[in-house]
Amino acid sequence: MSATLQTNILGIDFENPFLLASAPPTALIESIDIGLEMGWGGAVLKTITPDDLEMIEASPRYAVLRDKKDIIGLQNIELLSHKTIKYWCDGIKFLKQKYPHKVIIASLMAPVNKSAWQELVKTFNDTPADAFELNFSCPHGMPEKGIGMAIGTDEHISAEITKWVKEVAKKPVFVKLSPNVSNIASIASAVEEVGADGLAAINTVQGFMGFDLETLKPVLNVNGKTTYGGCSGAIVRPIGLRCVAQIRQASALPILGQGGISTWQDAVQYMLVGSDAVQVCTEVMLNGYKIIGPMLKGLKNYLEEKGFKDISELKDKAIPFISSHKDLPKTPLAYPQIDHTKCGRCGKCVSICMESEHQALQLNDGNIVVDKERCEGCGLCHLVCPAGAIK
Ligand SMILES: Cc1cc2nc3c(=O)[nH]c(=O)nc-3n(C[C@H](O)[C@H](O)[C@H](O)COP(=O)(O)O)c2cc1C
Repeated sequence: MSATLQTNILGIDFENPFLLASAPPTALIESIDIGLEMGWGGAVLKTITPDDLEMIEASPRYAVLRDKKDIIGLQNIELLSHKTIKYWCDGIKFLKQKYPHKVIIASLMAPVNKSAWQELVKTFNDTPADAFELNFSCPHGMPEKGIGMAIGTDEHISAEITKWVKEVAKKPVFVKLSPNVSNIASIASAVEEVGADGLAAINTVQGFMGFDLETLKPVLNVNGKTTYGGCSGAIVRPIGLRCVAQIRQASALPILGQGGISTWQDAVQYMLVGSDAVQVCTEVMLNGYKIIGPMLKGLKNYLEEKGFKDISELKDKAIPFISSHKDLPKTPLAYPQIDHTKCGRCGKCVSICMESEHQALQLNDGNIVVDKERCEGCGLCHLVCPAGAIK
């Protein structure tokens, strides 16, 4: 069966569900042009602000977390677009003329002031952009000015601004939410109640990459000082999936899911918890626009292998499985079954079980033996076994 990657969200046709997220890969029209040419389904522009909002960057502005050599996470302290409103209005017109079938979303942010937000929206109403994304979620620099995450962590201000925008917007309005809140679903519900058309999540997770132990200087060292930043990439994916699932449990609005997507498999995970399309930033910053090729091919093959006609057959499928802890069936216990043909007798499971609560595994005459009186079926032995010998 042949599958299509095309989808439709709020009446907007997407040739595929992969969008470039609002970030450095969407900061210049010339580079967005290359990304769209290479196959991305669309782009959310680097966040646009009123021209008089000061945007002075720090240098350097990135730090990374590595697993041995591989980068598994990024911390950034970058601000918003440095380009003028005119640059973006002309750029959107150019991109939509060249790529009428690609989706262009204008990401917007303004001071907490009705006329500032409404003026910005009215200006972009007159462009061929397909939709707006309201950035209520940048965690650094902007909150110090009372905007960015300072908006998205307060449901009343989030709702108020969404209302102002909806009064004048002539395009669908997505609200981009912050994961740096105790209850993301309540913010989602607050903006939904006042008319948001869709949601985007997550923006970066506020974090801190630490200090260099040799120099005792911050890893992200800006002339001797540092600050908290926004973390992204693989390290935030579990947080993003949790946030999107919680939003989906509270709201039926379309969701543009993002946070640590680097493969088509990651994108499928986001669709299963409720995303209607996905956005990617850090993986593009680390490996370039070309990652779209394997993503498109991998997702299409997967849909065809599963006999699915399109991504609607993936959407929300994980939600019925996600419940509260009190509703989990507590029995039967998942006792470990040891495959002694695979077991290397390294003793790792025994020592881990000895030191991590249960003391239920023993090495007896060269075989691992499970004491069912002590075992609580936690599953840690299965996860740490280097031979894959414990089920
Ligand atoms: C350097 C950098 C700059 C970013 N700038 C913006 C921005 O201007 N507006 C915005 O809404 N999100 C911005 N983001 C957040 C990304 O759009 C995205 O939501 C986040 O990084 C999670 O996705 P990822 O793990 O694929 O990077 C930025 C992220 C990074 C790393």
